[in-house]
Amino acid sequence: MKLNIGCGTKRLDGFVNIDVRAYRTVDVVCDCEKTLPFKDECFDGAFSQYFIEHIRDLDTLMLELARVCKAGSIVNHITPYCRGAGAFGIGHVTYYHERSFEKYYLPNTEPVDVRDSKPYELVGVSIVFGRNAFIQRLLYWSRVLWCGGALDFKLRVK
Ligand SMILES: C[S@@+](CC[C@H](N)C(=O)[O-])C[C@H]1O[C@@H](n2cnc3c(N)ncnc32)[C@H](O)[C@@H]1O
Repeated sequence: MKLNIGCGTKRLDGFVNIDVRAYRTVDVVCDCEKTLPFKDECFDGAFSQYFIEHIRDLDTLMLELARVCKAGSIVNHITPYCRGAGAFGIGHVTYYHERSFEKYYLPNTEPVDVRDSKPYELVGVSIVFGRNAFIQRLLYWSRVLWCGGALDFKLRVK
């Protein structure tokens, strides 16, 4: 079972769908900037889409995800790319670029917790535009001109 964090109204089957708001689509209502209400290593991975830009304390969330997800599982966040205007929507409090997650996997970056153990390995960072091929191509060129799109971060729990 995997976690879908900040699911909003987009419930995913086969996932535990969590959000701070009690939408009908939500399995567990909780604030993801606090301790998550799950045991250690009980999930096979975690996914979020258009969620982390609403989070001020990403360190707490990333450490909590490393705790509740099994070693070797993938934590995947999709979030607006800061080079695009879409990153600056109302309610967004953080802005991401390709290197934003380095502190969670590179040894010589700033400490994440008191032990300064880097809880993740990088699997990949890519720029994504949507499922429709035509829109992807259109958005590819709009990115060249306007730099929109979203970043797709994949990290493996150590
Ligand atoms: C833009 S919506 C994205 C919803 C969905 N993932 C999607 O792709 O459409 C962001 C969601 O994050 C939730 N959210 C914001 N802050 C949160 C927090 N601290 N803990 C849990 N969920 C939060 C909001 O309630 C909202 O449903």
